[in-house]
Amino acid sequence: MDYHLPTKTTSPSPQRRINKLMQQLIPQTTLSKLQPQTILISGVTSGLGKFLSLELAKLGHRIIGCGRRQTQLNDLLSQLNTISSSSSFNVNHILLSCDVANTKSVEEFANIILMKHNIVPDVIFANAGIGVRPAPLWEVSLNDFEKIFRINVTGVFHLLKLFIPKMLIESHRPGASYKRILATSSGLGHSTSPVLGPYSATKMSVEALMKSIAQSLEKEKNIGAWPLAPGVIQTEMMRNEDMPTAAAWAIDAAPFIMSLGDSNTPSGASLIVPGYYSEEYMSTWIIENGQRLPKVVSPWD
Ligand SMILES: NC(=O)c1ccc[n+]([C@@H]2O[C@H](COP(=O)([O-])OP(=O)(O)OC[C@H]3O[C@@H](n4cnc5c(N)ncnc54)[C@H](OP(=O)(O)O)[C@@H]3O)[C@@H](O)[C@H]2O)c1
Repeated sequence: MDYHLPTKTTSPSPQRRINKLMQQLIPQTTLSKLQPQTILISGVTSGLGKFLSLELAKLGHRIIGCGRRQTQLNDLLSQLNTISSSSSFNVNHILLSCDVANTKSVEEFANIILMKHNIVPDVIFANAGIGVRPAPLWEVSLNDFEKIFRINVTGVFHLLKLFIPKMLIESHRPGASYKRILATSSGLGHSTSPVLGPYSATKMSVEALMKSIAQSLEKEKNIGAWPLAPGVIQTEMMRNEDMPTAAAWAIDAAPFIMSLGDSNTPSGASLIVPGYYSEEYMSTWIIENGQRLPKVVSPWD
């Protein structure tokens, strides 16, 4: 860790002088854990996104969320507001209906957040995704194949394309918190299955996209990007009562996500939420847990 001692203070305001001293004495990633942050999550109407939102709100953070089901958005918003009003955190959560597969819908969502509310997220988590009915590839319909790519891959592209430029600019502002860009990968982003080829292909695409973003940001000091495999968790997508609940998972996942960016989790590393995959399963992975960014050597750059 790089602990710089302050050499000079230029701010006339005592509070700004204290803030500046804090920034110089405490590493940015540690500092951002202490401050309420704005966290944008797609797919908050159920499962991982929903319980992660609730857990992050309990830690004092503001949630900007989206999903397609309005009733679930309304229910979650009232739960988030209850959490925040009964604590000392005065944050204004915003949940909006948005279909991540639809360009216009994501543009409208981004416009409302970035332009109307003038909010640039500190963390963006492209989490919305769907599964596929298990079958060998030749039994998958073209419609199902295209649909899963539109949501799991194009959906990630839409969201990150619109928000990263503003996050990057904001990351350069003196005193800005460390910015984190994440997308939900899967054990199947690390491995393959005889009957989940299309799903696995979308999650390997997520791994590739996030590593590519991390490579593009390699020279940046205050922003990082990761594919994050959550574990095998009980949700609407994964209806298996033997698995940990999304509520229990979120208690571990929330602080893990907010700690990303230290030397254990360098930008571009393929990450898992620790403890949610068996060693036996991980021993079959093509992309290993923690795999770092390769050195960029290619004929195309
Ligand atoms: N559960 C697991 O064990 C597991 C393991 C590995 C990876 N994952 C990944 O984790 C992520 C979350 O899944 P989950 O397990 O929490 O399942 P889930 O309960 O089914 O949640 C999926 C979320 O994605 C949203 N979503 C789906 N399509 C969307 C679209 N077109 N536009 C906007 N939002 C959309 C859903 O909201 P609406 O339906 O309201 O739009 C819902 O909020 C997915 O990317 C999944 O692939 C899960």
